[in-house]
Amino acid sequence: EVMKDVSGLSDMESQLASELNVQQAIIVSGNSDRYSWVKKEMGRACVRQMKEQLEPQDVVAVAGGTTLAAVAEMMSPDDNVSSVSFVPARGGLGEKVEIQSNTISSTMAQKAHGNYRLLHVPDQLSDETRESLVLEPGIKELLHLIRQAKMVIHGVGEAETMAARRKTKAETLESLKDKQAVAEAFGYYFDRTGCIVHKENTIGLQLDDLSSNQVVMTVAGGASKAEAITAYMKYRPSDVLITDEGAAQAMLRK
Ligand code: G3H
Repeated sequence: EVMKDVSGLSDMESQLASELNVQQAIIVSGNSDRYSWVKKEMGRACVRQMKEQLEPQDVVAVAGGTTLAAVAEMMSPDDNVSSVSFVPARGGLGEKVEIQSNTISSTMAQKAHGNYRLLHVPDQLSDETRESLVLEPGIKELLHLIRQAKMVIHGVGEAETMAARRKTKAETLESLKDKQAVAEAFGYYFDRTGCIVHKENTIGLQLDDLSSNQVVMTVAGGASKAEAITAYMKYRPSDVLITDEGAAQAMLRK
């Protein structure tokens, strides 16, 4: 805390929280676009919040991405997290296995000495497959757990970057461009006013069933994500935003 006051980060945290309407903003020094250790610092800050806010037996739903992978890497055992169940927030989104939410929830659980459940769902589902998958008893049970999650933790990406990384169909790319998508989170794409303009066809957490008693923690940094984070927060301001100085400065400058 002393360090933060010296560098003015705590002033920036309250400015950012009020600007974005989030309950709490946490800013770590640096810009993760430039240095990868900054992502790990966001991970460390996220783990600290989890240990403060979680209680034994809670369910935590986690999304995918390199930032969430950094959170998982920084996890360690603790009374409050060692009986937590980690579940992926949504099914496959076309990411590499290392940064899929299944991998991240199992890594988090192993490092926390907690439990995990996997959601095995192929990427790019047809409506028909999706409708029959959700009726499978094992999947049904897992979807129920996901909906009960006390905490939901996710990253935010730039729409174009995410669509390219996931080898999105040309047709979808075109429509994201037409609709001026700037942000992505959980496989949902948003324009700069925070409206959903596209949703990947997978199962699991549906953003509109998030309730106000769930703690939503967003972890996203790097100046390049400033516009994306701002747009996403217009859709639904999170309870906690963990970001870095690079993104925070860019968001406050606008
Ligand atoms: O779902 C992925 C996020 O939107 C962003 O991914 O943490 O690798 O930038 P990232």
